[in-house]
Amino acid sequence: MRNMKIDHFSKKYTVRKLTEADCPAIYELCRKNPLFYRHCPPFVTEEEILEDMKVLPPGKTMKDKYYIGYYDKNTLIAVMDLIQAFPDETTAFIGFFMVDISFQKRGVGSAIIDELCKALSDEGMRAVRLGWVKGNPQAEHFWKKNGFSETGKTSDTERYTIVYAERKISC
Ligand SMILES: CC(C)(COP(=O)(O)OP(=O)(O)OC[C@H]1O[C@@H](n2cnc3c(N)ncnc32)[C@H](O)[C@@H]1OP(=O)(O)O)[C@@H](O)C(=O)NCCC(=O)NCCS
Repeated sequence: MRNMKIDHFSKKYTVRKLTEADCPAIYELCRKNPLFYRHCPPFVTEEEILEDMKVLPPGKTMKDKYYIGYYDKNTLIAVMDLIQAFPDETTAFIGFFMVDISFQKRGVGSAIIDELCKALSDEGMRAVRLGWVKGNPQAEHFWKKNGFSETGKTSDTERYTIVYAERKISC
């Protein structure tokens, strides 16, 4: 599978892969979203971020992983963990998406997801799948507002239940 063109993911923001050197900026963005970690513990640390940069679903390699940042000029405004072709060849999986608190509630998150779906469609993807933590109103409302429907599948971890949802995308 060829590499996706992440510079096509947004016209408004610069998108690039995040590295260890970006950890302090990612941590600053994440720590201001306590609601998310109340539902999805433990609370973020720089060590957890480093782990998340490497974590993969079964059968995938780092080549399929896009742990990316959206930049407004030089300011990191959103972080996303995206897996190409998971769980099947024409589905992309969003493992994590967070917008800086000072940019929230202005349509930034929705605009990023809309543009991403168009770009993923150009890459040959036909659906985007993700999961939210059951009972997190912010995540559930946001994804439903953005056209994601529950697949009916859930999975239980020790501390919470993940509800899976999908949005079909077409060319
Ligand atoms: C969810 C998130 C990405 C939305 O980003 P955003 O830029 O604020 O999104 P938009 O402005 O495009 O849309 C806001 C929508 O989010 C939902 N939302 C945001 N905050 C909410 C809250 N406290 N309670 C319920 N719904 C909420 C609503 O559906 C809202 O739409 P509305 O204003 O029409 O009611 C952002 O709040 C965030 O980063 N949250 C923490 C991380 C997270 O939960 N990520 C998703 C799970 S991986």
